[in-house]
Amino acid sequence: MARLEGKVVCLTGAGGGIAKASARACAREGARVALFEIDRELGESAARQINDEGGVALFVHADVTRDDSVREGIARAAEAFGRIDALFNCAGGSSQDDRPVHQMDLDVWHRTMALNLLHPFLMCRYAIPHMMEAGGGSIINVTSHLGLIGSVKPAYAAAKGGIISFTKTLAAQYVAYGIRANAVAPGSIRTERSILRYESGAVDPDSPAARERATFQRLYPFSRGEPEDIASIAVFLASDESRMLTGTTIAADGGRSNYLRVAVEH
Ligand SMILES: NC(=O)c1ccc[n+]([C@@H]2O[C@H](COP(=O)([O-])OP(=O)(O)OC[C@H]3O[C@@H](n4cnc5c(N)ncnc54)[C@H](O)[C@@H]3O)[C@@H](O)[C@H]2O)c1
Repeated sequence: MARLEGKVVCLTGAGGGIAKASARACAREGARVALFEIDRELGESAARQINDEGGVALFVHADVTRDDSVREGIARAAEAFGRIDALFNCAGGSSQDDRPVHQMDLDVWHRTMALNLLHPFLMCRYAIPHMMEAGGGSIINVTSHLGLIGSVKPAYAAAKGGIISFTKTLAAQYVAYGIRANAVAPGSIRTERSILRYESGAVDPDSPAARERATFQRLYPFSRGEPEDIASIAVFLASDESRMLTGTTIAADGGRSNYLRVAVEH
């Protein structure tokens, strides 16, 4: 039997890198997947690809930073598939304007928090009642190794750090309902907003973020990966194979969040 047979998984940011690969992996393992994505073209094309591969995917056009949009999206997914078993809250990202605190625009702080921290809260807010009704579920929140150790990008690091304690809280609050909550913290993954953007020269190699990245790269050779490296963790956490895991953060970062080596070298 496929590892996610009979399950329904909602994934956010599913037109892009990590979530799209995770949606394809979940579908290959028998899940029906709802792809929440703000970019219509990306979302439709990801859903088409999964359906062409023999899976079952529904594109849900949604801005996951907006309460009404998430409420309608979850209702649509539940109506189409009859249940919701897992969430993969993956939409997120940082901005080049995420500067040292005394130089940062307030708007950058609010936008970063909305996309990275408010969004998983909203997804949980509307999906949890469906999981309670089904007698259980698995929530997977995507953080970053920077959420574990801090970063030159204060808003992003704070939002991603917030996800980790939010995940622990969800785990405690809903354990009695059979609902698990875990997080995954990637290192550098080859996607549009990450390795590909830095390699294309779109980010100044002398910027603090590029220098921070280069240091990690040098010290932790296993810390660069492909979206599929995170997709396999998504499948594991969505499946019953991980039934003993709740409240944890899996650092898929080749050791980056073990900051000791950086500290020793400097
Ligand atoms: N790629 C990495 O190196 C890396 C490292 C650590 C953590 N992460 C985290 O992994 C997650 C996914 O990263 P990625 O590299 O796959 O990103 P990506 O940019 O390739 O994909 C993100 C997707 O989210 C969509 N999106 C953005 N705002 C949205 C909104 N308001 N509503 C709905 N969809 C929206 C985008 O259109 C895009 O398709 C992010 O949370 C990121 O912080 C990534």
